[in-house]
Amino acid sequence: MTTRRRFVQQLGALASASAVGALAPTFARAQSAKLRVGLMLPYTGTYAALGTAITQGFNIALEENGGKLGGRDVEFFTVDDESEPAKATDNANRLVQRDKVDVLIGTVHSGVVMAMVKIARDTGTLLVIPNAGANAATRSQCAPNIFRTSFTNWQPAHPMGKVMYERGHRKVVTLTWKYGAGEESVESFKEAFTKQGGAIVKEMYLPFPNVEFQPFITEIASLRPDAVFVFFAGGGAVKFTKDYAAAGLKDKIPLYGSGFLTDGTLEAQGASAQGLLTTLHYGDGIENAKNKQFRYAYGKKYGVQADVYAVQGYDACLLLAGGLAAVKGSFGDKKALYGALEKVKIDSPRGVWTMSKAHNPIQDIYLRRVEGNANQVIGIAWKALDDPANGCKMQA
Ligand code: BEZ
Repeated sequence: MTTRRRFVQQLGALASASAVGALAPTFARAQSAKLRVGLMLPYTGTYAALGTAITQGFNIALEENGGKLGGRDVEFFTVDDESEPAKATDNANRLVQRDKVDVLIGTVHSGVVMAMVKIARDTGTLLVIPNAGANAATRSQCAPNIFRTSFTNWQPAHPMGKVMYERGHRKVVTLTWKYGAGEESVESFKEAFTKQGGAIVKEMYLPFPNVEFQPFITEIASLRPDAVFVFFAGGGAVKFTKDYAAAGLKDKIPLYGSGFLTDGTLEAQGASAQGLLTTLHYGDGIENAKNKQFRYAYGKKYGVQADVYAVQGYDACLLLAGGLAAVKGSFGDKKALYGALEKVKIDSPRGVWTMSKAHNPIQDIYLRRVEGNANQVIGIAWKALDDPANGCKMQA
């Protein structure tokens, strides 16, 4: 049994245990000073490995913090959201209304997170987003109680517009899933690429999480663009690079993407990903002490290589640890808590980063090349990139 499978089974047991716990009399809850943490992440489907990595990264930081946040023990309530927007409202309500979590952590999928954002805004529950890049979460829908430790969809894709133009490409085809993250990534890439003078020959979309790539690859071959930009992640990314290489296009029409295309996926992608260039806020070989220590601890505990999702989960816990320590674990004064969370400087494996006014990381975006089983950093594509945060009006 793989470590990942075993871990997901443990999570399943944890989820049912927490469901039982939720039925316990409220009296038991009042006795407990435990911090109630709700994890809403995908543990099945195309993004299953991403949800697992986030959870594992969170656990590494929690262990380093002695298993406590703000001096309080932690009790987990876990939901597999299946990356299914249609179930998102019910799933988030289950954690907020039934399990009465103090903090909601999730999720991976941009469509699912927007339901969580609405519930966080409606109920005032603290929400920490450890992946989903939906721009609106820290733009028009930003709020004092919503924080993100990952990226906006705009951030990793934007620098690639410049990188590809500078590499001499002028006519590009884009391909992605037709949902928030895909559409916003392509839009961001296009904005930067066309600003430089490049042209988009064709924008192609398929429904999430469909992996029937063949008709699109056939069309790319006949259009013969200078290069291709894609957004895919998880299981879909593995299938895409394999299909692209199998069609004989890898060495004919260069393939680029935001770094999700090759993160957490390299072992499965094998030769199909070798040499691919991507842009992301993390790279396996980042030379800092924190990254080395984190990767060692993660590999030792879980028997797999850390990836960007694990880092984002780790940072979600660092954010809570730092913020809650400053207010001694109390949610009594929300203003003081959010103020403390805003001020935490995250000493992350990706490099030190700070929170923007809209509650999104201000961070370096790295240019990476796949070498063996690693996304090696070969440069900084954009230093300290902040999201434009258009439309964010933070109400006190
Ligand atoms: C998203 O849906 O926001 C997303 C999913 C996987 C990787 C990156 C972004």
